[in-house]
Amino acid sequence: MELNRRTVIAGTAAAGLATTLGTGSAQAGTGSGGRKPVRELFGTLADGTKVYRWSLENGGTRLKVLSYGGIVQTLELPDRHGRYANVVAGFDDIADYVAKSPYFGALIGRYGNRIGKGQFTLDGTSYQLSVNDGVNSLHGGAKGFDKHVWDVEPFTEGSDVGLHLHYTSVDGEMGYPGTLRTTVTYTLTRHGDWRIDYAATTDKATVVNLTSHVYWNLAGEGSGTIEDHELTIAASRYTPTDSGLIPTGELAEVAGTPFDFRHAKPVGRDIRAGHEQQVQAKGYDHNWVLDKGITARPEHIATLRDPRSGRTLKIATDQPGLQFYSGNFLDGTLTGTGGRTYRQGDALCLETQHFPDSPNHAEFPSTVLRPGQTYRTSTLHTFGA
Ligand code: BGC
Repeated sequence: MELNRRTVIAGTAAAGLATTLGTGSAQAGTGSGGRKPVRELFGTLADGTKVYRWSLENGGTRLKVLSYGGIVQTLELPDRHGRYANVVAGFDDIADYVAKSPYFGALIGRYGNRIGKGQFTLDGTSYQLSVNDGVNSLHGGAKGFDKHVWDVEPFTEGSDVGLHLHYTSVDGEMGYPGTLRTTVTYTLTRHGDWRIDYAATTDKATVVNLTSHVYWNLAGEGSGTIEDHELTIAASRYTPTDSGLIPTGELAEVAGTPFDFRHAKPVGRDIRAGHEQQVQAKGYDHNWVLDKGITARPEHIATLRDPRSGRTLKIATDQPGLQFYSGNFLDGTLTGTGGRTYRQGDALCLETQHFPDSPNHAEFPSTVLRPGQTYRTSTLHTFGA
C-alpha cells in the first residue's frame, strides 16, 4: 500500500479506533507482517455443504474470501484520512450468491468471458459447451468455477499471508475436455497488495482463461456511481463485438473514440457518447488489447482512482487483455453487504485475461493448454491513498 506520511499516522489512529469499536484489529499503514488467516462458517448450501469465510489482513488491507467460488466478499482499504471502507460489491448471505450473483468477486473458469455459440474445435474435435448467455457460453457456462466450493489452504510465508484455493474440474464438465486441476493463490503482502497467481494442468488438450470478477467502487460499496472514478488503461486497441458481445476479430484503434483511456479519464466522461459499441453493450463491456502484450512477469496496465476518497488501485498482469465492464447490467434489484441496492454503474470490473472467444480466433493469442504444460498467470493489485 502506498500511503503518504500523513495518511500512515491517520490510518494507524483510525485503526486503533476500529479496534475499540470491535470491528477488528488493523495494522493500517504499518507495513508489518500479517496475522494467520482466520476461518468462520459463512453458510450452508442446499445439499448441506458448508461454506467458510476466511479473513486476511496485512499491510493495512483487509480481505474476506469465501470457499464458495473463491469469492472476495469484502476488501477494506483506508482513504486518504485513514478511514476504512469496503470497496467491492458483494452479498451478506450465501443464498444470494447462489441465487442471483452476477459473479460478484468470484473466480471465473474455465473460460473468462464469452465463447461464441459455446462451440469450438480443437485438434479436429468439436466441442459444445454449456450455453448460459443467449446462444453463447459466458464465464465457464451454467455452473462455472464461481459456483463450486473450493478447498482452501491458508498460509503465512515470511511477511505474506494468503490462501491456496484448489478445484478439480472433471473431464467434460460444462462441455470442456480434460480434467483440469486448478490452484489459485491469493496473497496479501506486507505492503497490503493483493496478488492472484493462477495455475492449472490438464490431462487432455483443452482451453483455459481464468480471471477474477471483483466489482470495484473505491468510494465504498453501495456509495453510488463509479462514473467519477478516473481510469487509465495502457491499450491502443480494443476488440469490438457483435450484438451478442462476441469479438468480431477486429483490433480497433481507441484513438478518437470513447474507448481511449490511455490518459486518466473519468469513466463517465464519454460513457454517453453514443458510439455504436457502447449502445450495444449499454456502456463499456469490452476487452482492451494491452500494448505490452503477454509478458513473463506482471506489468502495470491500469490505474483506477477515486478523487473523493483518494483511494487508488493499480493493476499489473502478465496477460494480454483487460475486460473493462462498467456494471451495465446492475439494475437496482440486488442489495449489497451495506444494505443498499446496486444500480447501473455502481461498480466496475477490470478482468485481466486472454481475449474473449479466443478458441474461435486463430489470430488471437492462444488459450490452449496441453498435457504436460502448466498454465500460470499472475495479477497484482496495488492499493494506495
Ligand atoms: C461480462 C459482462 C457480463 C458480466 C457478468 C463481464 O465480464 O463482460 O458482459 O454481464 O461479466 O455480470
